[in-house]
Amino acid sequence: MMTTTDNEIPKTVTIGKDLIVDRIGFGTMQLVGPKEWGEYPYHDKGIALLKEVVDQDVTFIDTADVYGPHSNEELIHEALHPYPDNLVIATKGGFVRGGPEYADMGAVGNRAYLKQSAYMSMRRLGLDHIDLYYLHTPTMTDVPFEEMIDTLAEMREIGLIRNIGLSNISAEQLQTALEITEIAAVTAHYSIGVRIGAALLKVSDEAGVVFSPWHPAAVPSGEDGTRFHSVLDPLAETHRVSAQQIALAWQLHRSPLMLPIPGTTGVDHLRENLAAVNIALTQSEVDMITDLEEE
Ligand SMILES: NC(=O)c1ccc[n+]([C@@H]2O[C@H](COP(=O)([O-])OP(=O)(O)OC[C@H]3O[C@@H](n4cnc5c(N)ncnc54)[C@H](OP(=O)(O)O)[C@@H]3O)[C@@H](O)[C@H]2O)c1
Repeated sequence: MMTTTDNEIPKTVTIGKDLIVDRIGFGTMQLVGPKEWGEYPYHDKGIALLKEVVDQDVTFIDTADVYGPHSNEELIHEALHPYPDNLVIATKGGFVRGGPEYADMGAVGNRAYLKQSAYMSMRRLGLDHIDLYYLHTPTMTDVPFEEMIDTLAEMREIGLIRNIGLSNISAEQLQTALEITEIAAVTAHYSIGVRIGAALLKVSDEAGVVFSPWHPAAVPSGEDGTRFHSVLDPLAETHRVSAQQIALAWQLHRSPLMLPIPGTTGVDHLRENLAAVNIALTQSEVDMITDLEEE
């Protein structure tokens, strides 16, 4: 694991060969209806928030075709198009929603479906290529994993996408994918209390692949949260920030390839989350947080 000390945290991260973005991005998944189904009920507020995201100089936005489905990408287009030159929008394909319940979720990975999905995301977002395109899940069973990687490589070859990302994969699947082609980024559930992505982080770090943790600032609450807060709260007090900001700063200190994508529906939390880039933790503070959960 690469680590950084107090004053060495890079302020940018490079996706693939040359896509340079700031260390903290923005996840737009909450700007949809309940259970990620349908339009965001507070349309104007959503538009204003997205404009504020760009005004705050965020250079990386994470969305997916399945958020809505489609309405999340459409909201981004409506709020931000034409996009600032330095804005990277990552989107994902592979999940399908057969209805409004989470139980209606499925996944498809055949070549025609994935290619169509990327073309349609590009159209909804109003782009002529997609900078970073994630396979949203590896759980589909219609084609083998390797075949989906081949399809993504073909999509990059023809210029439909610029970089390949893989979401919610295992460490072994990343190794398999890297043997087939270049992978620029992975995204996984990884936070102070949930270390599902830990093995993947180790492999991505060693391979120089960007790791974008989702739910990155989550701090367990209630009885389960007591032991986390007993470490985080004093640190928050020392640094005069919130526990969520310490959680984000910890992510940034774990690896220079970390690209957390906190989501929020409010401007105050947005500003707070972005300010976490300026928190310098000592290595022992980082270790104290890391040791709260087994990896
Ligand atoms: N690849 C995948 O399968 C996958 C899965 C899930 C998510 N994601 C991505 O990850 C992104 C992040 O996940 P998420 O949208 O669920 O957001 P999140 O980062 O997990 O945070 C969501 C919750 O935290 C609160 N919050 C945000 N900032 C806060 C702060 N500074 N202090 C206190 N509370 C705060 C939010 O409330 P407020 O709205 O009130 O701020 C909301 O309740 C998504 O938008 C999506 O792009 C990807």
